[in-house]
Amino acid sequence: MELFEPAWLGPLELKNRLVMTAMSTRFAGSRGETTERLIEYYAARAEGGAGLITIEEASIHPQLPHVPNALGIFGNHLVPGLQNLTRRIHDAGARASLQIGLYFRQHVNGFPRFAASADAPDCSPGCRELTPDEIRYLTGLFVEAAERTRSAGFDVVEIHACHGCILSEFLSPYWNRRKDEYGGDQAGRFRFAIEILEAIRQRLGRDYPVIYRISGSEFYPGGFTEEDGIALSLALEKGGVTAINVSGGLGHINHVSIPPSDVPRGILLPLARGIKAAVKVPVICGNSLTPEMAEEALGRGDMDLVGLGRPLIADPEWPRKVREGRSREIRACIRCNQGCFGGLRDLRTPGLTCLYNPAAGHEIDRAIRPSEVKRRVVVIGGGPAGCETARVARLRGHEVLLIEREGGLGGQFTLASKPPKKEDFAKLAEFYAVELPRLGVKVRLNTEATPEMIASLAADVVVAATGSLPVVPNIPGSALPHVTTAQDVLAGRVTIAEGPVVVIGGGATGLETADYLSELGLDVTVIEMLDAGGRDMMSGIGVREALLARLKEKRVRIVTGHRAIAIEPGAVVASDRPLKGGGKEVRMSACRVVFGLGNRAEGMMDRLGAACGCTGQLCSIGDCRSLGNALNAVHAAFEMALTI
Ligand SMILES: Cc1cc2nc3c(=O)[nH]c(=O)nc-3n(C[C@H](O)[C@H](O)[C@H](O)COP(=O)(O)OP(=O)(O)OC[C@H]3O[C@@H](n4cnc5c(N)ncnc54)[C@H](O)[C@@H]3O)c2cc1C
Ligand SMILES: Cc1cc2nc3c(=O)[nH]c(=O)nc-3n(C[C@H](O)[C@H](O)[C@H](O)COP(=O)(O)O)c2cc1C
Ligand code: SF4
Repeated sequence: MELFEPAWLGPLELKNRLVMTAMSTRFAGSRGETTERLIEYYAARAEGGAGLITIEEASIHPQLPHVPNALGIFGNHLVPGLQNLTRRIHDAGARASLQIGLYFRQHVNGFPRFAASADAPDCSPGCRELTPDEIRYLTGLFVEAAERTRSAGFDVVEIHACHGCILSEFLSPYWNRRKDEYGGDQAGRFRFAIEILEAIRQRLGRDYPVIYRISGSEFYPGGFTEEDGIALSLALEKGGVTAINVSGGLGHINHVSIPPSDVPRGILLPLARGIKAAVKVPVICGNSLTPEMAEEALGRGDMDLVGLGRPLIADPEWPRKVREGRSREIRACIRCNQGCFGGLRDLRTPGLTCLYNPAAGHEIDRAIRPSEVKRRVVVIGGGPAGCETARVARLRGHEVLLIEREGGLGGQFTLASKPPKKEDFAKLAEFYAVELPRLGVKVRLNTEATPEMIASLAADVVVAATGSLPVVPNIPGSALPHVTTAQDVLAGRVTIAEGPVVVIGGGATGLETADYLSELGLDVTVIEMLDAGGRDMMSGIGVREALLARLKEKRVRIVTGHRAIAIEPGAVVASDRPLKGGGKEVRMSACRVVFGLGNRAEGMMDRLGAACGCTGQLCSIGDCRSLGNALNAVHAAFEMALTI
């Protein structure tokens, strides 16, 4: 089997074996209706070449969207909008599938909570067990939703039965503690899912493609096992399912469902292999497979179709680039979960996007159009902000020169790939290193830009994207020879061979540096002023949780609620009154001390403005303009480059 061989889902032919998996976006209207933004987001993925585009979970119930602005499939009035969506996908040459489902315990609008069983370990007080009558009522809603899916022009309906949604609650022994016919053994736990399938088959006939998305394993003690996955697949096959889509994990309890960079790629493949050996219907599986891994897995017969989630958020053209032998040009997903899952979770943002594909979810408002006037643009700094500025400016037709002091691109983000389990983060720099020269950006490495040099280039526009410098606090002892910064350690400019080491600052940088140092076998303590480590990291998306768990396992101490007030040879002195001063002093032994504190903007802009005599437009972007993270830097750079 090969990626670009046609495949069949029952009577439906797909042009290749690439399936975009369901991913919620928050792009629908407030009442679940289809929007232009949603259509254009999916159209871009269809145009990228995937054979089947699965639209995110659409709620079968009007009052229970799993996130605000979730898509809905609970009424006939929603069908015309969805028809516009399927038309766009078909016009782009792909087939369309809609995932339908329901979340009960994780909904957001204050509706009374229902669950498979109220005594499940993480059920909140007031949660009530669904009665058999209510279960049958929900079965009816699934069938009506499936019928609407077909009327909306979808070629396939997918039933969501994993990741903690209501069906997975019934399937999982972790959540299902029922004593009636919908609980207990496999037959009981599987009953609801099978009844829905049978009812859909009765209403829609034998041929309409119905996929079940299940967990191959929940990877959790007391949860749904690999054996459960095989048994459920066999039962679904008997019930007339067209294909099985194998995911994994236990929803919000662990993070295999949307694995961050610390989860091995391809972790689901053995599960797919087990299911495929047991059933005859096609099996879909993915989980951030690289093109090479996907080819190999298909070749081995692990599955029939390759699921692609975040790789298509990061680069909708993944399929086309692979087909044309241009895999090196792929903007690979680095599994940071910041823009996609983070965007979904953080209601202050406009929904899903990607750390370094700012057009994801902004297909309309961030379209790149050629500039009417072609300008000579000089970008100083090859970090995320500078690289993105150069890319977009060049795409708009400008002549672009990028100057970088170091020997490679990526800026400080390169350091983000140095701590354990963050190797994926190096892919951002790899992408720009291929993409910028390909587009015709002139990249000058190992070159320190000075105001005089910039003046001599006589550019129309100069963009300072020079980043930031580590903060070194003004406390006694901060200049002692055994004191250094996280940046120097991670960049390999300073080697620490013996501990104990005290890291001052327990935000992301401090904790990741502690992770890096403890991996070298060093005894590490982190001092943090706040009440917990990693407060600047978004929780609930797997990254912070995994880091804190790893540090605990490696016995890294995080001393919270303390502020370092002095450094002495062999010790750090901290106070337990972090804000007001005074307080009880604690002395921690420290052979080496590392500052893992915030950053401050690099001052290039001021120097440029004062000294370069440049007559063109001067702007700054990224951390040197407003300290943030790589996502902020790249997105701001994109928007700024649209105005050059
Ligand atoms: C350890 C660590 C982990 C991080 N982890 C994450 C993370 O997980 N997620 C996230 O979103 N962010 C993370 N960040 C933050 C992120 O790296 C920065 O916010 C981001 O790199 C800022 O991009 P930038 O382009 O503005 O600046 P920088 O990345 O700092 O790039 C500035 C570039 O300008 C160059 N430069 C400066 N002056 C000159 C000059 N005069 N001439 C030529 N070149 C010059 C520098 O060499 C550098 O390459 C992390 C940072 C660190 C240090
Ligand atoms: C933002 C986001 C939303 C998701 N929403 C859904 C969903 O609605 N239904 C679903 O079955 N899976 C959902 N997933 C899981 C993905 O379909 C996919 O299984 C997961 O991201 C792992 O695959 P990948 O590594 O290829 O991204 C979501 C993932 C992300 C990142
Ligand atoms: S935000 Fe990060 S995890 Fe999400 S698609 Fe982009 S690179 Fe991948």
